[in-house]
Amino acid sequence: MRKTPETYFIETYGCQMNVRDSETIAGIFERRGMHPVTSQEEADVILFNTCCVRDNPERKTFGNVGFTKALKDAHPDMIIAVCGCMMQQRQVAEKLFHRFPFVDLVFGTNALARLDSMLDAVMQGERLCIVNESDFTVVEGLPSHRAGGQSAFVNIMYGCNNFCTYCIVPYVRGRERSRMPEDIEAEVRSLVAEGYSEITLLGQNVNSYGRGLPVEIDFPALLRRLSPIPGLRRLRFMTSHPKDLSDGLIDAMATLDNVCPHIHLPLQSGSDRILRAMNRHYTADSYLELCRKLREKVADVEITTDIIVGFPGETEEDFSETMRVVKAAAYATAYSFKYSPREGTPGAAMPDQIAEDVKSDRLRRLNQLLTSLTECNNRTYVGRTGEVLVEGSGERDAAPFAFGKLPNFKMIYFPGSAELVGRYVSVRVDEVRGNSLFGKLV
Ligand code: SAH
Ligand code: SF4
Ligand code: F3S
Repeated sequence: MRKTPETYFIETYGCQMNVRDSETIAGIFERRGMHPVTSQEEADVILFNTCCVRDNPERKTFGNVGFTKALKDAHPDMIIAVCGCMMQQRQVAEKLFHRFPFVDLVFGTNALARLDSMLDAVMQGERLCIVNESDFTVVEGLPSHRAGGQSAFVNIMYGCNNFCTYCIVPYVRGRERSRMPEDIEAEVRSLVAEGYSEITLLGQNVNSYGRGLPVEIDFPALLRRLSPIPGLRRLRFMTSHPKDLSDGLIDAMATLDNVCPHIHLPLQSGSDRILRAMNRHYTADSYLELCRKLREKVADVEITTDIIVGFPGETEEDFSETMRVVKAAAYATAYSFKYSPREGTPGAAMPDQIAEDVKSDRLRRLNQLLTSLTECNNRTYVGRTGEVLVEGSGERDAAPFAFGKLPNFKMIYFPGSAELVGRYVSVRVDEVRGNSLFGKLV
């Protein structure tokens, strides 16, 4: 029997889904009487929550896990655990488990609900590698330990059914399943009662929320159900798949006061041919029509996006279509990525993979365009006043500043101190500096 662990350190990679899962993991640790520490050296349990959506995270993750061997040699009672999306890929999980005999526990995304019993087994001296491809069910009632502050994430659904041909997520997160609306509502109510006033609803495709549930509900109806909760000042959501964005959602955004006028609407490509090869089920025109409708109906709305360059078969002409649509969509900000083949997805097996230098060149040109679009967008804010939820503070050249976001996700910096963090304040934008907005409290 090992010494009972008292402290934990969680390292999280990837998206908000993983951030949220790490809060559940922390909740399970806290329930066992453990508390968080700020460095790996002080931890009795080190847990890595991994991602595999792009690039070579595998090398990085293996490297970082490998580094913990020295810590473990010095403290043999230490428990090392690795979980998350990358560990839901059986070959990768087994490779890591065999390569690093000092790792005690490896488990995939769907085993999280059983963390307590896995830890008990590890305490008895076992080593476990739990990867199970079939058991993706919604488990309610797990504890959570959130970071605190004003903002909290709430899952409304898990998994994805869309199988975009570049994407690994459906394989490592399983089929789409929605939580029951009463469970979501109860969680939001209790978070608001604890003081969280900004809630972000999470799903890979929130627009298909409700499918397959025994009750009749869709995403706009969920927003209408949550919006009246007293004390809920900002209700956000992500991500929206363009193919499922309904007039009903645009209507809900336009009419529900606390539903924020921001939508993250991944474009991925502006070429219809590439969109078809990606299995996205919309065209450049239908996408731009959605943007037009959103701007027409939702006051102050901002649209952000994700774009992939260098998908297999992407020609210079396809890429210039992407550039054209990006300009026309007039994004507030966009996240741009080089296509990264993921083993087991259709995209990785397609002919005409694009050379790395071509991808890099396209990414550079796209980023140049995005920088200029952000600047144009920023300029439209000078002179405007809006409500900012203060997220943080810092100091530059001995002058204290604070920063936070408008309802539509625009970030503003202004002179202010740490006491403002967590408060809603009114800020007037005075100038654009680099790619940021600067203003003053009014
Ligand atoms: N469910 C969300 C996004 C999930 S992944 C949606 O459908 O929009 C986040 C982003 O990573 C994607 O929007 C895409 O732009 C990018 N991405 C996913 N797989 C990728 C890959 N293989 N290579 C490069 N970028 C990828
Ligand atoms: Fe991946 Fe597409 Fe699902 Fe988003 S919608 S998670 S990009 S398969
Ligand atoms: Fe998210 Fe990465 Fe998994 S982007 S869903 S943590 S593969």
